[in-house]
Amino acid sequence: MAYLMGIDVGTSGTKTLLVDESGNLVASVNHEYPLSTPQPLWAEQDPLDWWEATKEGIRGVLAKAEVSPDSIAGIGLSGQMHGLVLLDRNHEVLRPAILWCDQRTSEQCSWITDTVGKETVVEETRNPVLTGFTAPKIIWVRDKEPQIYDRTVMMLLPKDYIRFRLTGEFATEVSDASGTSLLNVPERRWSKVVLDKIQISEDHLPRVFESSVISGKITKQIAQETGLREGTPVVGGGGDQAAGAVGNGIVRRGVISVTTGTSGVVFAFSDQPTVDPKLRVHTFCHAVPNKWHVMGVMLSAGGSLRWFRDTLCSEETGLSRRIGRDPYEFITAQAEHAPVGSEGLIFLPYLTGERTPYPDPEARGVFFGLTLRHHKGHLARSVLEGVAYGLRDSLEILKEMNVPLEEVRASGGGARSELWRQIQTDVNGIPLSTINVDEGPALGVALLAGVGAGIYGSIEEACDRAIRTVSMTEVNQRHHSIYSDYYRIYGSLYQSLKGQFAEVGSVLSRWHS
Ligand code: XUL
Repeated sequence: MAYLMGIDVGTSGTKTLLVDESGNLVASVNHEYPLSTPQPLWAEQDPLDWWEATKEGIRGVLAKAEVSPDSIAGIGLSGQMHGLVLLDRNHEVLRPAILWCDQRTSEQCSWITDTVGKETVVEETRNPVLTGFTAPKIIWVRDKEPQIYDRTVMMLLPKDYIRFRLTGEFATEVSDASGTSLLNVPERRWSKVVLDKIQISEDHLPRVFESSVISGKITKQIAQETGLREGTPVVGGGGDQAAGAVGNGIVRRGVISVTTGTSGVVFAFSDQPTVDPKLRVHTFCHAVPNKWHVMGVMLSAGGSLRWFRDTLCSEETGLSRRIGRDPYEFITAQAEHAPVGSEGLIFLPYLTGERTPYPDPEARGVFFGLTLRHHKGHLARSVLEGVAYGLRDSLEILKEMNVPLEEVRASGGGARSELWRQIQTDVNGIPLSTINVDEGPALGVALLAGVGAGIYGSIEEACDRAIRTVSMTEVNQRHHSIYSDYYRIYGSLYQSLKGQFAEVGSVLSRWHS
């Protein structure tokens, strides 16, 4: 029996897992690390924390699984997208990685768009330049930290730094590279036009592979450090969304996934690099060769609930710690007691600005409609509902783009809550399915490794062997009607408040920077 390893370098931690050829989980290990916000709108992590978590994860999984390293046919890497890791000529990390949810680069986005030309940017990269993406981060370092920029010889995405440590190779793959604003997305190669115009040398970027192609092999030294076999192949892998989509079986037209992790993502497969004329959703390369995907990304989905837990639920957290339960169980139990629509309390989940449908780094979280009647359960429920409204925004855009929508699959931490699944189903008015596995990107890249290692003939075959639908949440039509009324108000709130969000931003920078 051959086994496959998947490593997902996420925002809250790194997950490492081992599956057998049928995609059954053999062992899995999670290692967490901190995220720092040295200034408002900034988000950074230390790539060495990812590396330590990866080594611990590999050793942990090997110890738990008790399988021979010789039987591991391949490894796939996934990770948080868009982050920037800079290396000097000794291949040392030059500064903390700037992450996908960092919003410091508005000025640089405008500069790139003006310098390249908006039409050319969209023609080449199929997307606008957004604050979360990688290129504006590079330009930010060039503008603000020239002494670091001048020493840079390699610029990598988070999982590709881990690939370098494991294999010694500088490589990336099409799905993650799509989120840099530097890839020609239709042709799946670096965009010479964009690179020339903004004067970034291709020599400082890794080689681009398709996601299931072998990009390197475990080195002797890493084999000694981790217990892996020297020479174990490492495939391209995928950005966490494309990889998660493979892990959810989103590899054909008609099946859409809604993933509530820290971010909230609505992901649809596409045969073509189709662009939303209003540029509200992203068009990226899929991990499936010569296929693309269209996705809407809200920045704080599970992140909103985590903020709620950490800020307002110390009692629930303490209790759950004492009796060994998950604090979210207590929080959702309170939310369940509040009525559908939270009696007019509406939460805007823009805690780290927003991307889809409003690419606005200055957008802020809001509880709208508080009255004396509202208690903590209402607050909790309105957070779950606000995130569901945000996800519906992306689904509505996909509908406008005529993306076929036959089945919607729920995944990510949020999909484990029955209440949240029901809220999402009722907000969208579309039944929501769940599948037999809930391992997301790490499973997706393990399956990609299986394709690279020749265990499966194709990604579709890998998904057919590993993934099937196991449950369906049906729409409550009355609740859908209530939610549709509130959804209209939800949509108008951003329009009413965006001017004030910007004003708060300028007051803040006047007094607090
Ligand atoms: C995708 C995105 C997030 C991050 C972190 O565009 O920004 O999903 O990859 O998970």
